[in-house]
Amino acid sequence: MLAFIGGTGPEGMGLAARFALAGEAILIGSRSPERAAEAVSRLRGMLPEAPIAGGVNEEVAVRADILFLTIPYDGQQELLPRLAEAAAGKIVVSTVSALKVERGRPYARPVPAGSAAEEAAQLLPAARVVGAFHHVGAHQLLDLNHELDCDILVAGDDREAKEAVMALGRKIPGIRTLDAGGLYICRYLEAFTAVLLSLNRRYRTTTTLKIVGING
Ligand SMILES: NC(=O)c1ccc[n+]([C@@H]2O[C@H](COP(=O)([O-])OP(=O)(O)OC[C@H]3O[C@@H](n4cnc5c(N)ncnc54)[C@H](OP(=O)(O)O)[C@@H]3O)[C@@H](O)[C@H]2O)c1
Repeated sequence: MLAFIGGTGPEGMGLAARFALAGEAILIGSRSPERAAEAVSRLRGMLPEAPIAGGVNEEVAVRADILFLTIPYDGQQELLPRLAEAAAGKIVVSTVSALKVERGRPYARPVPAGSAAEEAAQLLPAARVVGAFHHVGAHQLLDLNHELDCDILVAGDDREAKEAVMALGRKIPGIRTLDAGGLYICRYLEAFTAVLLSLNRRYRTTTTLKIVGING
């Protein structure tokens, strides 16, 4: 059972839709039960047969086996301590990039812990935090007619948790997962999102990432 914390936004809904299509059971988390219910009904409209339910973040965190953090960076210091007990011993996948956009220009924001994912590991001390899915755009995920073709770079210090997230990501057709290293690498993965956003703006498109030079 996969829970999407802040799963009412485009990134959480997009990942949830793709994982539901791949046969995973999905829980959509929100700060509001009404917004969770709306997102669930939208996803059920796209995928009528899929096992999708929802609830407030705290509740779905208890029920799920794996948690995805799909909230803006600004929300995590307040929200994550409330999920720490439920997340203990579980894999937590941070998709969060600490970015800001000023006059149309994207910037990586300094995070004292190094990255949003490393901060999440501090806020969820007993969880097995892995960073992944920073570079796949929400709207491409949500458009189920769009054929994905990208690499997902996965970083984490818990080898078993990282391998589990890599195997999970491979269930989505068109995604290859690569082991990018320890959790500290998330500071570079998150910052690189600013490069993709800048390219998107200049070329009026949605870019993603593919690495050459690694077979398989
Ligand atoms: N958008 C993309 O293409 C993309 C791609 C890769 C990674 N990401 C990452 O995914 C995360 C979510 O992106 P998004 O575009 O889906 O963001 P979003 O729409 O701004 O936020 C997602 C959800 O987070 C909840 N939320 C908002 N502010 C919050 C706060 N202060 N505290 C707790 N929850 C809050 C809201 O849900 P409720 O109001 O229902 O609680 C909202 O629907 C970001 O960290 C981003 O870096 C995004």
